Amino acid sequence: MQLRSVAVAAVVILSLSLFPPPISAHNITHILAKHPEFSTFNHYLTLTHLAPEINNRETITVCAVDNAGMNQLLSKHLSIHTIKNVISLHILLDYFGAKKLHQITNGTALAATMFQATGSAPGSTGFVNITDLKGGKVGFGPAENHGNLPAMFVKGVEEIPYNISVIQISTMLPSAVAEAPTPEPSHMNLTSLMSAHGCKVFAETLLKSPAEKTFEDNADGGLTIFCPGDDAMKNFMTKFKNLTDDGKQSLLEYHGVPVYQSMATLKSNNGVMNTLATDGAKKYDFIVQNDGNVVTLKTKIVTAKITGTLVDEQPVAIFTIDKVLMPKELFKAAEADAPAPAPAAAPEADAESPKSAKKKKHKAPVAADTPADSPADGPTDDFADSTADDDNGGGFRYSGGTVVAGVLSMWFLFLLL
Ligand SMILES: *[C@@H]1O[C@H](CO)[C@@H](O)[C@H](O)[C@H]1NC(C)=O
Ligand SMILES: *[C@@H]1O[C@H](CO)[C@@H](O)[C@H](O)[C@H]1NC(C)=O
Ligand SMILES: *[C@@H]1O[C@H](CO)[C@@H](O)[C@H](O)[C@H]1NC(C)=O
Ligand SMILES: *[C@@H]1O[C@H](CO)[C@@H](O)[C@H](O)[C@H]1NC(C)=O
Ligand SMILES: *[C@@H]1O[C@H](CO)[C@@H](O)[C@H](O)[C@H]1NC(C)=O
Ligand SMILES: *[C@@H]1O[C@H](CO)[C@@H](O)[C@H](O)[C@H]1NC(C)=O
Repeated sequence: MQLRSVAVAAVVILSLSLFPPPISAHNITHILAKHPEFSTFNHYLTLTHLAPEINNRETITVCAVDNAGMNQLLSKHLSIHTIKNVISLHILLDYFGAKKLHQITNGTALAATMFQATGSAPGSTGFVNITDLKGGKVGFGPAENHGNLPAMFVKGVEEIPYNISVIQISTMLPSAVAEAPTPEPSHMNLTSLMSAHGCKVFAETLLKSPAEKTFEDNADGGLTIFCPGDDAMKNFMTKFKNLTDDGKQSLLEYHGVPVYQSMATLKSNNGVMNTLATDGAKKYDFIVQNDGNVVTLKTKIVTAKITGTLVDEQPVAIFTIDKVLMPKELFKAAEADAPAPAPAAAPEADAESPKSAKKKKHKAPVAADTPADSPADGPTDDFADSTADDDNGGGFRYSGGTVVAGVLSMWFLFLLL
């Protein structure tokens, strides 16, 4: 039996690698752009990063409201994260074309939504009651409103059968739960979160530094933190204490990236990454590279592995790593001077790898590797710079077909999630 499941898994993995799905079957931004009466709704799909999530789903219904309906919502002055919750209640995880809406079995159905799928919705909240009413009308209401159906189907906007249906409903679905102020990822206390999950030393060091504010300031717009585990940080402390105040701040900021990068994005988007410490000519960048299923972060001095995920939800991701990242801007001279590396320093093999990287490096297409949902102002823009004026061996490398196939299957799994 075990053999059989292994065989099945192998076949599945093989076929996933051979037949990667189209990256996006549809483009909701593009669909709604043809209908100016939904421009506000469309704008907020982009702002809340729901658009790529919609594009990545294969069977989906978007219940759009016109600009007047959106203005009503906006007049409540909710935070962007709450608006995201409200709008995600309008994205049904099933296909409801106009025809299906008017022929619901037994005249009523509860549809699961993207809000429910986030896990922020308790109980039956996050489901939408769709009911066929007298006179050919179809009513919509949040399930927790006990059969109160305040929104009506207005018209079908666009249908790609069984992939995506965009319909107009008369008003936003009023949901106290979706509109409740939720603990936003960006408003979580980042340091106490890290403290509670194996990065206590890093978090405490951060709290004593102006770098903490840099992290907080970036949380709303997108932030990825690579926090070294306690052992790594403890071993590094003598070196850390030796740095100037500026150096300490840069070292800490070097562990943050001013863009939200999900695990899936990191796996599929290898390359040079700028950090919070990047300041003009002082690059403070590192290279993200898959090593099989493991994602590694390579500086000139050290190669760290991602060992775990603390948070991975727009706009914040926090990953644990097994070594402190040492930027060449701070440690180049020190390494040359110091004959024996300290415990936390990179083994020789690591210190060598950037050189071999340079040798193997060749110019690779940048755009081809960029997932559809990577933020336009993210490091992807910087990749072009880094490869163009490249003086530090930081560039793209492909390690052959297996990795490409692996990446494609990871990408497929990402689409499924
Ligand atoms: C629907 O999506 C599937 C899978 O992504 C794709 O193969 C198919 O062509 C799409 N259908 C239409 C009508 O675009
Ligand atoms: C979707 O369409 C919009 C507007 O037409 C375009 O700017 C965007 O690049 C498209 N996105 C994808 C993933 O193709
Ligand atoms: C429709 O109603 C019948 C009888 O009440 C029930 O057995 C059946 O499960 C319902 N179907 C759906 C899809 O809810
Ligand atoms: C949805 O609301 C209608 C109208 O109030 C109600 O009759 C129906 O039972 C509800 N449907 C479900 C599945 O809860
Ligand atoms: C997070 O919690 C720590 C310790 O509990 C506290 O010192 C710090 O000020 C908090 N940070 C924010 C941004 O509230
Ligand atoms: C601390 O800095 C001094 C001078 O810059 C250097 O000689 C020494 O090796 C450093 N110590 C550690 C532990 O890095």
